[in-house]
Amino acid sequence: MAPARPLLVLVAIAVTVPLSAGAVAALVFPKEAVPTRSGYLPIPPANASLFFAFYEATHPLTPPASTPLLLWLQGGPGCSGLIGNFFELGPYFVNPDNVSLSRNPSAWNRRFGLLFIDSPLGTGFSAAPSPADIPTNQSVIAAHLLAALQSFFALDPAFRARPFFLAGESYAGKYVPAAGAHILDVNPTLPEALRVNLRGVAIGNGLTHPVAQVATHADSAYFTGLINARQKRELEALQAEAVSLTLAERWLEAAHARGRVLARLQNMTGLATLYDLAKQRPYQSEPVGAFLNRAEAKAALGARGDVKWEECSDAVGAAMDADVMKSVRPQVESLLRRTRVLLYQGIRDLRDGVVSTEAWLGEVDWAGLRAFLDAERVVWRTPGDGELAGYVQRSGALSHVVVYGAGHLVPADNGRAAQEMIEGWVMQAGLFGRRGGTGRGRRRAA
Ligand SMILES: *[C@@H]1O[C@H](CO)[C@@H](O)[C@H](O)[C@H]1NC(C)=O
Ligand SMILES: *[C@@H]1O[C@H](CO)[C@@H](O)[C@H](O)[C@H]1NC(C)=O
Ligand SMILES: *[C@@H]1O[C@H](CO)[C@@H](O)[C@H](O)[C@H]1NC(C)=O
Ligand SMILES: *[C@@H]1O[C@H](CO)[C@@H](O)[C@H](O)[C@H]1NC(C)=O
Repeated sequence: MAPARPLLVLVAIAVTVPLSAGAVAALVFPKEAVPTRSGYLPIPPANASLFFAFYEATHPLTPPASTPLLLWLQGGPGCSGLIGNFFELGPYFVNPDNVSLSRNPSAWNRRFGLLFIDSPLGTGFSAAPSPADIPTNQSVIAAHLLAALQSFFALDPAFRARPFFLAGESYAGKYVPAAGAHILDVNPTLPEALRVNLRGVAIGNGLTHPVAQVATHADSAYFTGLINARQKRELEALQAEAVSLTLAERWLEAAHARGRVLARLQNMTGLATLYDLAKQRPYQSEPVGAFLNRAEAKAALGARGDVKWEECSDAVGAAMDADVMKSVRPQVESLLRRTRVLLYQGIRDLRDGVVSTEAWLGEVDWAGLRAFLDAERVVWRTPGDGELAGYVQRSGALSHVVVYGAGHLVPADNGRAAQEMIEGWVMQAGLFGRRGGTGRGRRRAA
């Protein structure tokens, strides 16, 4: 990593004097943007490891020993956590110039330490020793994540006692419940010194119980005005196919049937992306790849120089094909009995949005469900300017948050709201904290 000042001069020159063909601007990786710790965390298969980047809390409100840690997992399956890091919620974002970073004013490492892991094995900088080592199901992924966490906690004796939170988005709606339940199942069998202090799990725009979720696209699109009644019937027929194949446990065919639902919906609506019905262009995350594949960036991050970073790995996607339609709702139910759960969705997502979550949330097997469903849905406004940020419904262990002004990648679209939500939920403060809820279930309990 070169000093920042000369590099800034180089970039200034690049702006005024167009580079000749083939010339490349120097990379600007400011010292303060380098992770507190990063590199590789060994996991069981011989010679395998998962890449990680950790950023310590910048402005914690708690003593270091009790400042929480939060692990962020990206979806896909097979998309790198560094998209979360450099495009959504990390301390620095890659600029459209592909070579420089700017500070994210809504970074998630303000009040707590923030850990990104490229998982499953085969994703991002976590190259698999061989294709056969890429996981094909949630049990293996959960075991790898726990092993990676044990390697992480071993880096600093103070890490392990800090309250730990597991979070992620999209296909992490599978990983987060699977890994969370696995950790809580394994904990009692471990010596105290090796237990994970898991205090809650958060899922953004998740795919968790696909059989219910795949049946909601026609309704979401129709009642938003994006398709007409005839198109709705056509989509419903495609959805029914995906549902019956799922119920028959014909997993590959079911996944492909879901793919046809989404492709048809895309075709009918002509949207730039089903991830956000308000966008005229898809999410512009390409600069992250251009940046991360530069040798200077890999060196600064402690990533292997010989690994080509891809935003999403096709090999991992293919390995996980038969997992797509499988449910982890039982794992969510088991987490609701033992820890706190946050489910949040950007309201503009047509893939894994609000309706899609409501479809399975109403049928979870959990003693607190009745009180949760009866709880008030509170209007959430940003402190200060009173801008509408979304809606919050809470009771007992469960919080459901709808984020206004956001699609699938909530922190990328509405960083301010996402930061307020995650900090409030982790620290149990404000609208998201112990005294914040005004639901009837909460008052009865009080
Ligand atoms: C382990 O992986 C490294 C990096 O790819 C490689 O250089 C080394 O030969 C591998 N060792 C074994 C025992 O496979
Ligand atoms: C950034 O990288 C992308 C993808 O590699 C490329 O298409 C684009 O032209 C690059 N932009 C600049 C400003 O160099
Ligand atoms: C998950 O994959 C592993 C490795 O292929 C296999 O041994 C295991 O039986 C699978 N577990 C489930 C629940 O399918
Ligand atoms: C939808 O599919 C039809 C048939 O393949 C094609 O002609 C049409 O251009 C597509 N429309 C959009 C918006 O993709």
